[in-house]
Amino acid sequence: MSIQTREGFQGTGPGAITPDGCAVEVYTRLPVGDEPEVIAAAAPAGASILELGSGVGRMTHPLIERGFTVTAVDESAEMLERVRGARTICSPIEELDLGEKFDVVLLASFLVHTGDPEVRRGLLATCLRHVADDGIVLIQREGENYHTDVPRERVDARGFTVRIASSEPVGDGVRSVRAEYHFPDGEWTQTFRVRPMTKEQFEEALEESGLKVDRYLTEDRTWVRAVPVG
Ligand SMILES: C[S@@+](CC[C@H](N)C(=O)[O-])C[C@H]1O[C@@H](n2cnc3c(N)ncnc32)[C@H](O)[C@@H]1O
Repeated sequence: MSIQTREGFQGTGPGAITPDGCAVEVYTRLPVGDEPEVIAAAAPAGASILELGSGVGRMTHPLIERGFTVTAVDESAEMLERVRGARTICSPIEELDLGEKFDVVLLASFLVHTGDPEVRRGLLATCLRHVADDGIVLIQREGENYHTDVPRERVDARGFTVRIASSEPVGDGVRSVRAEYHFPDGEWTQTFRVRPMTKEQFEEALEESGLKVDRYLTEDRTWVRAVPVG
C-alpha cells in the first residue's frame, strides 16, 4: 500500500516507509524505553487506551501485558500489521472519529510537535473528541535540549546506533530534523519537520484545543497528563 509522504517528511532505507518517513523495519527492531512504566503509573488499572501513532506496537504490547485494553491507530497499514492483541485502526489521527470515548488517549512520540499548526490542532481535537469526561490525555513532548544538543547519538549495547544528525531551522518556527539508524545489516534515515514549543507555548496549544495540563509526570516535563477543560 502506498500513501503520500507528508510534506517535509521523508525516509530512506529498505522496506516500507510511512508517510512521516519512519521505516517500519526500524521500529520492529527498536526496543521500548520507559514509556510503558510512565503510562502505567498515570493511567487507572485496566483502563481503555486509545493509542495514536502506535507504529508496530512497541508501546502497545507492554501496555497489553500490563492489563490495559488498547486500540491502536496509525496511518500506516504496514506498521499496524505487526501489532498483536489490540484492535487496530488505519487512519490519519486528525481524521479519526470513532464515536467512542476512552479512559486514556495517548499521543506519544513527540507527535504534538508536528510542524503544521493545523495538523497539531487536528491531533489535539482527536484527543479531546475521544477522551471520556473524567478521562486523561497522556502526551509526550520534546525535552529542553532536543534541538541544541545536536548532533547526538546513542550506541546501544544490542549493536545499533541511533543518531540525531541535525536540526535545522526551515522558517516560521519549524525545524527539519534528520535521524539516522545504523544496524550491522542496514541503515535508515528519517527527516521530519517539528515545531519546538516552550512549556508556555505547549500549554497554550492545549488550551486552544480544549485541554489543560493536569500535571507533568516526569522531572524533565516530557510526559504530560492533560484533561479536558470543564
Ligand atoms: C516515530 S513513530 C513512533 C511509533 C510508536 N509510537 C513507537 O514509539 O514505537 C510515529 C508513528 O506515528 C504514525 N503517524 C505519524 N503521524 C501520524 C498521523 N498524523 N496520523 C496517523 N499516524 C501517524 C507513523 O505512521 C508512525 O508509525
